[in-house]
Amino acid sequence: MQERGIALDETTLEAIRKTRRELGSARHLPGFLYTAPEIFAYEVETIFMKEWLCVGRVEEFENEGDYRALRIAGEPLLVCRDGAGGLNAFSNVCQHRGVEVATGEGTLKSFRCPYHSWVYDLEGKLLGAPHSKEVEGFDFSSCALPRVNLDTWGGYIFVNFDPDCPSLEDYLDEDGIREFAAFLQPENTRTSDTYVFDVPCNWKFIPENLMDMYHVGVIHKESFGGHFPVNDFRFNLKKNGYNAAYESFTMAPKGVTLFDTMPWLKGKVTDKFACTTWIRPTMNIFGRHDLIQPWVALPVDHATTRITIYTQLPDSYFDAPAFEEKNKIYADFIRLVANEDRAMLESLQNGVGSRAFRPGPTVKLERAIHHLLNYYLDKLLSDDDEARAKRRRDGEEALLESASRSSEPRDGGYSAMVSAAE
Ligand code: FES
Ligand SMILES: [Fe+2]
Repeated sequence: MQERGIALDETTLEAIRKTRRELGSARHLPGFLYTAPEIFAYEVETIFMKEWLCVGRVEEFENEGDYRALRIAGEPLLVCRDGAGGLNAFSNVCQHRGVEVATGEGTLKSFRCPYHSWVYDLEGKLLGAPHSKEVEGFDFSSCALPRVNLDTWGGYIFVNFDPDCPSLEDYLDEDGIREFAAFLQPENTRTSDTYVFDVPCNWKFIPENLMDMYHVGVIHKESFGGHFPVNDFRFNLKKNGYNAAYESFTMAPKGVTLFDTMPWLKGKVTDKFACTTWIRPTMNIFGRHDLIQPWVALPVDHATTRITIYTQLPDSYFDAPAFEEKNKIYADFIRLVANEDRAMLESLQNGVGSRAFRPGPTVKLERAIHHLLNYYLDKLLSDDDEARAKRRRDGEEALLESASRSSEPRDGGYSAMVSAAE
């Protein structure tokens, strides 16, 4: 096993190799991978500046001039809708001295840098710069805001900082995301609630926590974990990520839906339909019969992560009687669940930094986490395709074994649901 571009001593590599082992004998990652700023700097280059990252929903940018400024691991980004209806992403970096030309979100006709008043249009072109006439041969065309790749799928807006990145479609198809999620039709839903909050922990803990079925029956016992198939959870491992279909009630108090089954799922699923998929590096989509609820995590720094939880409902729900009241009940509930996780995430970050921390063994319920940790190590070290294929084969065997104990299809019923939909 060879490290790629970061110097790791033999003791460190020895600790990491334990995560590379097969699930039954593997260990969790050593703590410094979550706490060291130099590891984070390497992750920014190899993951966040290379992978496609979700930064919003198309309905948040409905009108000309709608924009959002954000920072991903400190990298300033600006997303906006232009006059021709296109969505654009730029580096939010003034071409004079680097100040961020826009902050927050809202609607603007152009972006005026707050420092010396250079003005850019919605396509990033420099329109005006005070005193520019004093500069011989001032070239406006070379002072546009640098473009960042942007594409959409399912109503989600993704950006990629790498000019040589694969297309979003190819990227998603590597893990079968588009095929898996087509059934949910996220493109036919609208965001009814957005919950944004910062957690004082490393970004890797967020997707890990969201595929951690081990904790659901413990910390979420009172909220939604009481009716969750924790002991027979069926992960369908993909090349990098995973998906799963299972049974759980909707994300509302006592699992009682206040809405109806989404029109396109009617007659095809029960009110216990639940599914999830992970889009590397930090987006987890959860589906229920009546909603879609993605979690997106983007790093602020090595020990702070910003989480956005979207709740998406079919258009037709928004005009239903007492929609606002019902929506508030759902919104309060996801905040309750998120806060249950938040306390654990903060404590995890503190704990792995302790001199007493020794990474414990990975159990079967952590099959997806183990796969994620190794996706991550593929970025940090060298790809291990053989180990990846072996993990997938082991995962398939586990699905078959699980299926042999019941008459359900081995993917947790997903294939039956999809074929019923066709
Ligand atoms: S830094 Fe933006 S106008 Fe000077
Ligand atoms: Fe949780």
